[in-house]
Amino acid sequence: MDVPVSPPEAAFAQLDRLMARGAAFFGSRYALLGGAMSWVSERNLVAALSNAGAFGVIACGAMEPPRLAVEIAGTQALTSRPFGVNLITMHPRLEQLVDVCLEAKVSHIVFAGGIPPGAALKRAKEGGAKVVCFAPALALAKKLVRSGADALVIEGSEAGGHIGPVSLNVLAQEILPHITEVPVFVAGGIGRGEAILSYMEMGAAGAQIGTRFVCATECVAHPNFKRAFIRGAARDALPTVQLDERFPVIPVRALQNGGTKRFMEHQATVLARFQAGELSKEEAQLDIEHFWAGALRRAVVDGDVENGSLMAGQSVGMVTREQPAAEIVAELMEQAAAALALRGPRR
Ligand SMILES: Cc1cc2nc3c(=O)[nH]c(=O)nc-3n(C[C@H](O)[C@H](O)[C@H](O)COP(=O)(O)O)c2cc1C
Repeated sequence: MDVPVSPPEAAFAQLDRLMARGAAFFGSRYALLGGAMSWVSERNLVAALSNAGAFGVIACGAMEPPRLAVEIAGTQALTSRPFGVNLITMHPRLEQLVDVCLEAKVSHIVFAGGIPPGAALKRAKEGGAKVVCFAPALALAKKLVRSGADALVIEGSEAGGHIGPVSLNVLAQEILPHITEVPVFVAGGIGRGEAILSYMEMGAAGAQIGTRFVCATECVAHPNFKRAFIRGAARDALPTVQLDERFPVIPVRALQNGGTKRFMEHQATVLARFQAGELSKEEAQLDIEHFWAGALRRAVVDGDVENGSLMAGQSVGMVTREQPAAEIVAELMEQAAAALALRGPRR
């Protein structure tokens, strides 16, 4: 439940000191980063988060450069605070998207979905943007720092959307003690301020949160999508299951629905057709990959929560109602400050 008594000012001041490095990096009030979510993190949520003192990040997803330019301008019209843009490294026009960000003077570019190509990273930095990359393991974290990443996000398998195999609990222990050159932000399964505080005490500069912000009042996600989040429990947010190792499936954590059930049946049918010689291996793999095409949009924009993809992190159980973004941010900060106050004076 919410903290009934406000934590003392001293606890907030101490929290500010803990968050100073991360907040200075983003130029935001708090070291809290809105995890970019395709179709969800558009101008309204992004601006609301930045206006609330966090750092909003636009999810470019599959947008083409002109569309991204419009979204950035739309966000700039709603906030004078800094915000970032998340670019998927597989996008065929990655460098043009970087140019769009630079032309619009976006301060931070987050490269997601893999290690960014050197040329895109260099272009972003030379153009004056700060670059944030995802580090899935310590060796890659070190490599990314050497390549010029200005900050890292470590995202555990508790997160919503595409996930790696390792939990944040383990990634934090593996990476935080060894990367001090750049700020490292933690992501995955974070729904309360106490968790943010704990990871900062382990050395994180701040946290990136996705799921917890989906039910922000300002978020344009369809009411059905929001309702699914409010109803959902941690145990309902499961990774996609791969039926046969010959046909790899990228793990995506999402709330279970008719679509996830049918995906299993679809894999079984495709497998049977492959075994009967009706499909080549390539055709079968493509068929499996195409199953989810457009599925996140169907759920977020159209509200088809039965057939669409309900990408959500395990923290979905901590989403209990629709609230203004500023209220969610304030709640997280209060929970962190209250936990800090309970730690007592530093010895
Ligand atoms: C609906 C949804 C869509 C997402 N889309 C993206 C995306 O386009 N790019 C990306 O880097 N991460 C994406 N993510 C991951 C988030 O940015 C963030 O790292 C993640 O939500 C953090 O874990 P949490 O949901 O437990 O807070 C998505 C997550 C969700 C729930």
